[in-house]
Amino acid sequence: MTEQEARKEILGIVAEYCMTYHNQKEYKTGDRIPYASRVYDQEEMCSLVDSALEFWLTSGKYTDEFEGSLAEYLGVGYCSMVNSGSSANLNAFMALTSPLLEERQIRPGDEMITVAAGFPTTVTPAIQYGVTPVFIDVTIPQYNLDITQLEEALSDRTKVVMASHTLGNPFDLYAVKSFCEKHNLWLIEDNCDALGSKYVIDGEEKFTGTIGDIGTSSFYPPHHMTMGEGGAVYTNNPLLHKCIRSFRDWGRDCTCPSGKDNLCGHRFDRQYGELPMGYDHKYVYSHFGYNLKATDMQAAIGCAQLKKFPEFVKKRMRNFERLKSNLAELKEWLILPEACANSVPSWFGFLITCREGIDRNKMVSCLEAKGIQTRMLFAGNLIKHPCFDQMRKEKRGYRVVGKLENTDRIMKDAFWVGVYPGMTDEMIDDMSQVIVEAVKEQI
Ligand SMILES: Cc1ncc(COP(=O)(O)O)c(C=O)c1O
Repeated sequence: MTEQEARKEILGIVAEYCMTYHNQKEYKTGDRIPYASRVYDQEEMCSLVDSALEFWLTSGKYTDEFEGSLAEYLGVGYCSMVNSGSSANLNAFMALTSPLLEERQIRPGDEMITVAAGFPTTVTPAIQYGVTPVFIDVTIPQYNLDITQLEEALSDRTKVVMASHTLGNPFDLYAVKSFCEKHNLWLIEDNCDALGSKYVIDGEEKFTGTIGDIGTSSFYPPHHMTMGEGGAVYTNNPLLHKCIRSFRDWGRDCTCPSGKDNLCGHRFDRQYGELPMGYDHKYVYSHFGYNLKATDMQAAIGCAQLKKFPEFVKKRMRNFERLKSNLAELKEWLILPEACANSVPSWFGFLITCREGIDRNKMVSCLEAKGIQTRMLFAGNLIKHPCFDQMRKEKRGYRVVGKLENTDRIMKDAFWVGVYPGMTDEMIDDMSQVIVEAVKEQI
């Protein structure tokens, strides 16, 4: 048997295994409905095993394919795969601290405009680097940054705006981008919860994550597509791409991929920093970087997921619309989510804010007891968390614009449920029914 024949036989058995033992359980009314779930079949499993048989392990041919395919899907020039969405945010932020960016380099003591109603690792890299996050409020029911507060948040230290498109709903990219251009600020779009969302800007429909300077993705299982753990950083700017790759790959100057030496032909004939002439370029460091790379096995799953991705997005949109129309009768008691103007969201979830008279905690307990899995909008108000205790006490390290009233309201009154592509009409209808009953218990 040749190696190719052996591989074919193994993959045939793996496909059979997956079809026989995975995805077997059919939904019945009364079963638990999770807020998110992986959607996969034998294609993902075979791709994973194929990469395992290669045993290259670190980034390799599947990583190249994934980076190329995601860049093509998004219509961006450059994409770098990393090992999580949090790593993608760290990588994106740190790229902007590169001295190669000259007067636009972000330095400790500078400021970053962001929101507190979101996921912590959008903000963590700034804090760790010594940049002050400046928190503005969000609007309800879009749950994105309130653009009317941008000018007030600005100071002569502001260098960057970094925020996510909440649960897939794009923020007002036109306003935020114009603000950034006017004040010469970077814009990082945390696109971890919005892959596939679109926004019309200057008459052109573009994917979120590709309109600012850098976009980031997460491929943790609940997200729009998965590879277990994983993420990506993308940009159209070749200099930023160079910085992203350097920070991702140990801070090195050389751009040769893993396992390849001297592609540029100048490995031993240049002088860098104060190093001796001809010092091996593979070990020249232009940044204080990390190793944020992912493995080829993760990329192999991602390649198979990406082929299904446009269908996932359509299904998310359909599920969202069906749920919204099912819950329309509850508008008096619940605030239902609304898409930002000029956008076509690839919804991550369905975020609900309870109006006066409806207790969010009672709602959530009731739904969970009846098998509907719920989630909060991540941190709610990040500043209230124990990780801020010291900074709050010492009154340093962050600034707040206004009172963050909507942020606090979200922390107290909001929750979300799923619209993931594995949900059927029956599941959406059953979930709607339980939500209606839960409201009726309180009115
Ligand atoms: C908006 C946002 N950014 C970043 C992340 C971090 O992604 P990861 O879990 O892959 O580190 C998440 C995680 O869910 C997120 O929701």
